[in-house]
Amino acid sequence: MMYSWLVLGLVAAAAGYDYRSDPEIYHDKWWGPESIKEDTSIRPFKVEWKKEMVEDLLYRLNNRRPMTPPLKGTNYNYGLNTDTMSYWLDYWASNYNFTTREEYLNQYPQFLTNIQGLKIHFIWIKPEVPKGKYSIPLLMLHGYPGSVREFYDVIDDIIKPTGRDFVVEVVIPSFPGFGYSDATNYPGLGTAEMAFIFEKLMTRLGHERFYVHGGDAGAVIGNNLATFFPEKVLGYHSTMAVATTDEALSLITAGSVYPATLMPADLISRLYPLKNTLQYLAQDFGYFHIHTAKPDAIGLCVGETPTSLLGWFLHLFSIFSRRTNGDNPMGGLEIYSRDQIIDNLMIYWDTETATTSIRMYAETINLRNLRSGYFRVPTPVPTIAVQALGEIFYMPPAALNTKFTNLVAVDVLDDYGHFLALEQPKIFVELLLSGLQRIIQFSKQNMNGDAEGGNYV
Ligand SMILES: *[C@@H]1O[C@H](CO)[C@@H](O)[C@H](O)[C@H]1NC(C)=O
Repeated sequence: MMYSWLVLGLVAAAAGYDYRSDPEIYHDKWWGPESIKEDTSIRPFKVEWKKEMVEDLLYRLNNRRPMTPPLKGTNYNYGLNTDTMSYWLDYWASNYNFTTREEYLNQYPQFLTNIQGLKIHFIWIKPEVPKGKYSIPLLMLHGYPGSVREFYDVIDDIIKPTGRDFVVEVVIPSFPGFGYSDATNYPGLGTAEMAFIFEKLMTRLGHERFYVHGGDAGAVIGNNLATFFPEKVLGYHSTMAVATTDEALSLITAGSVYPATLMPADLISRLYPLKNTLQYLAQDFGYFHIHTAKPDAIGLCVGETPTSLLGWFLHLFSIFSRRTNGDNPMGGLEIYSRDQIIDNLMIYWDTETATTSIRMYAETINLRNLRSGYFRVPTPVPTIAVQALGEIFYMPPAALNTKFTNLVAVDVLDDYGHFLALEQPKIFVELLLSGLQRIIQFSKQNMNGDAEGGNYV
């Protein structure tokens, strides 16, 4: 079995992968109701929190059931410390200003368009292009349990002109089934399928070629875009670049004997001994299995009350911010403001997308995707991987190289976590902009200037 996948993967890699002839992925499927036609118009959109929704939410917040107290001294190791929940829930009920937060979410131009039958929501900002500079389009992809809100603290600094030659035009979509984008009623819409939707979005906005940034599930979609559209994606920048080629997995396994051949000595403990990594996955990846196996069962529980939605999300924000957060009384979550956390919750609560967002896991991690094997096909798209200390998977550069044959740089951070844009906005922006600059430089030197933004002026 393993052997036939290896052969398939090598054949696909040698022949050049063609998604159009892959029966296992749905690159063009109509995900919406059969009765509607594609409406390619781009309409302005604003978040509008209905008075009844807010009143109902406040009622639920103010009439919540008591929570089971935590066991003594367990902090966040059992998933949550319910003693810390009122820090967030009381604020949500009494201090969170729905009027000003709604305005906050509406501070950037947002739009809707229809793609493959679904209404797709996105933020889109074309910057002013100062004389002598050019503009480059950047698709920015959020993750779970995030939303477009992940990027609100960084947008201003990304779009404003710097000393660099380029300015950035950002497109920040909500994934199908997340926030203000439609969910489908048909099975099969995983991260691969989302990549095709976002390629169509960028084309519709006039960008035949573009850059991609992604973290978490957005990193996976970005990875897929770089695989399906190597000629369109000018660069891939990611806080969670992952290689799942057979060669990468062999390298990581073999590396457990001589880690020093794979990575600098000070990084070895991020991956080895593998026992620690496997223990971490067993301890903290319960959510992943349940999301993948039974999304509707867990989705119902997560979305039912503001307490349950907050609790499920806090547990994920905690384990992915630092691996040691289980021993922290607050789960290490004070690094986020209450407005950051609750704005993000509001997007899920208002749109009732707890279940539809979780289904993304089931539609991605399954036999159909495994059979396709696109994720083991290498891509030449110039890539930069940012690796925070608390990031979920540490990938040695040699392993990344088996997927990203033009790995421009690996930016290793000796601190910080998985939600870098929320946690460290300034550092995130600097890494992103300098990353784009290095990718452009690399392409000029190695790919006949392919990535130069001149054609976007
Ligand atoms: C929310 O903020 C606005 C503007 O600062 C203020 O006028 C309003 O009274 C606040 N609402 C609440 C419920 O505090």
